[in-house]
Amino acid sequence: MRDIPGTWRRVAAGAGLIGPDGSAAPTIFAEMSDLAARTGAVNLGQGFPDEDGPAEVLEAARAAIAKGVNQYPPGRGIPSLRTAISEHQQRFYSLTVDPDCDVVVTAGATEAIAASLLALIDGPDDEVVVFEPYYDSYAACVALAGARLVAVPLRWPDFQPDLDALRAAVTDRTRVILVNDPHNPTGAVFSSEVRAEVVRLAERHDAVIVEDEVYEHLVFDEPHVPLATVPGAWERTLSISSAGKTFSVTGWKIGWVSGPAALVDAVLAVKQFLTYANGAPFQPAVATGLALPDAFFASIAASLRHKRDVLGAGLQSAGFAVSHPQGSYFTVVDAAALGATDAADFCRTLPERAGVVAIPLTAFVTPAHKSEYATLVRFAACKRIEVIDEAARRLQSLR
Ligand SMILES: Cc1ncc(COP(=O)(O)O)c(C=O)c1O
Repeated sequence: MRDIPGTWRRVAAGAGLIGPDGSAAPTIFAEMSDLAARTGAVNLGQGFPDEDGPAEVLEAARAAIAKGVNQYPPGRGIPSLRTAISEHQQRFYSLTVDPDCDVVVTAGATEAIAASLLALIDGPDDEVVVFEPYYDSYAACVALAGARLVAVPLRWPDFQPDLDALRAAVTDRTRVILVNDPHNPTGAVFSSEVRAEVVRLAERHDAVIVEDEVYEHLVFDEPHVPLATVPGAWERTLSISSAGKTFSVTGWKIGWVSGPAALVDAVLAVKQFLTYANGAPFQPAVATGLALPDAFFASIAASLRHKRDVLGAGLQSAGFAVSHPQGSYFTVVDAAALGATDAADFCRTLPERAGVVAIPLTAFVTPAHKSEYATLVRFAACKRIEVIDEAARRLQSLR
């Protein structure tokens, strides 16, 4: 494999995944999931829920298959889903989105991110500014698009960016400011000052904002505020979300991008040659989900908040220093007090020591910055409460 020329090398290197022999290494997520399967450890590594989402959404997918909704849907997405996305943006954020021109349905948020970056990057001098640590596809997609990644650090324990560092990172070379809020892996929700500064800098340097909002309904204190709602932002912002997290259907891979028609058309121009179309019977089901009453959306946030609290208390009494996530599936801890000096090594031995799997934060940073996150570890709270209780009980053996 290492002798095969091609873009794979740049992508793997961008994601920090070139092994010592020059071949592409598997991600630490795969390694940790294998470890969980082999050892029978409680898997709080990868972020996927272990129970089904709303019955009416699942039933709508079954009904669609039974009714023969099994062929290619329109490349932009079926009209009823685009309308549901538009109504959702209006209902929760007072954003007016034209379902015919301002929306495209994608194969999960992952394709939306890839298609947006491939659409907007124009050459090797273009830069994409991200907050670090970042969702692992960002660095890989920036590399795939042939641009440069510019990272603004988020520091333990509140993981808000330093505004001077943000100002220094955004220049006339910045093509895209890629923001994930609520944030994976840290659980941070960015302050209104950060939002305002992102928009101000994007305007000043004529950059496009791409916001990944897949955890938009999983916030614990204040309602989510999209960057697209900040005055002046809409015309330069692509908003990305996905059904996976909101409806606990991560395997369906139905995502979407919304924004001004010209930017959305650019994304569609790329998406149509990545997958053309996706998930025909899941699209009407997601439309059903997006139309669920407000009480549903409030209940998923309340349930995850409770899980965050139970997990946080368990982690604290096991001896970790615990951050206070305001959203997303995740809680970050500092394992230094438990003797950790290398988070990856700590996570590799955790199944044996305590029967639990977690992910080192170093999986979400560029290799050169790993030392700054060397003792931080991410635990997923999106599991059944008895699973979190059991993990918390097992972790007490670390004391
Ligand atoms: C921040 C973030 N963006 C995107 C995704 C991927 O979303 P999807 O499964 O819809 O492709 C994830 C999944 O973990 C995520 O955490």
